[in-house]
Amino acid sequence: MGDLEDLTIRGIAAGDSVMMAAAFSPKSVEQFERYLREQNEGCREVLLAFVGLEFAGYVTINWCPSYAPLAAAGIPEVQDLNVRPSFRRRGIATHLVDRAEGIVNVRCGRIGIGVGLHPGYNAAQRMYVRRGYVPDGNGVTVRDEFVREGQTVVMDDDLVLHLVKDLLRDNCEIAALD
Ligand SMILES: CC(C)(COP(=O)(O)OP(=O)(O)OC[C@H]1O[C@@H](n2cnc3c(N)ncnc32)[C@H](O)[C@@H]1OP(=O)(O)O)[C@@H](O)C(=O)NCCC(=O)NCCS
Repeated sequence: MGDLEDLTIRGIAAGDSVMMAAAFSPKSVEQFERYLREQNEGCREVLLAFVGLEFAGYVTINWCPSYAPLAAAGIPEVQDLNVRPSFRRRGIATHLVDRAEGIVNVRCGRIGIGVGLHPGYNAAQRMYVRRGYVPDGNGVTVRDEFVREGQTVVMDDDLVLHLVKDLLRDNCEIAALD
């Protein structure tokens, strides 16, 4: 494994899908081909991290999120941040999200993220809070439907809390969520 000094980040390109699916099984080649298609259509940006020649992780920016409060406010959403287990705790996600925030900040002063609530997201929850992401104040959703008090839900990937970070750009024209 190379050193983090060898870290490079680049956009997804044709031909990456097979490598990405192999590294993040059971994710499918089709999912990454969709990401590439959405990037070509201008709806998504996909960033890949390499340590030396080794593919280490990726993140995407969805410019057209389906979650209503972000969509209504025109706030893009970081989606599907993933670092391969053997590359974790070395700052790779930090570099990927730094880059994603930089890209978003050129167009908008706020950035959103939906983080899962089950234990697989423990590290991510901590990371986002430490980076200044705060709950958007609308509660928890299951497939973009808000969960009501007393409702029974399943703790799986669909149970999500959305967080928003103010990127402190002066001339942002996006309306505040609150
Ligand atoms: C969350 C994830 C992307 C972090 O990747 P990473 O490259 O290891 O993250 P970094 O090394 O940049 O760490 C950034 C911060 O995350 C937090 N963090 C990362 N791993 C952690 C762990 N095992 N326990 C607690 N906090 C952790 C820390 O706050 C850390 O900052 P610190 O090192 O200064 O304490 C990675 O664990 C992962 O792929 N998890 C599974 C998928 C996932 O949850 N994706 C997020 C979807 S919203």
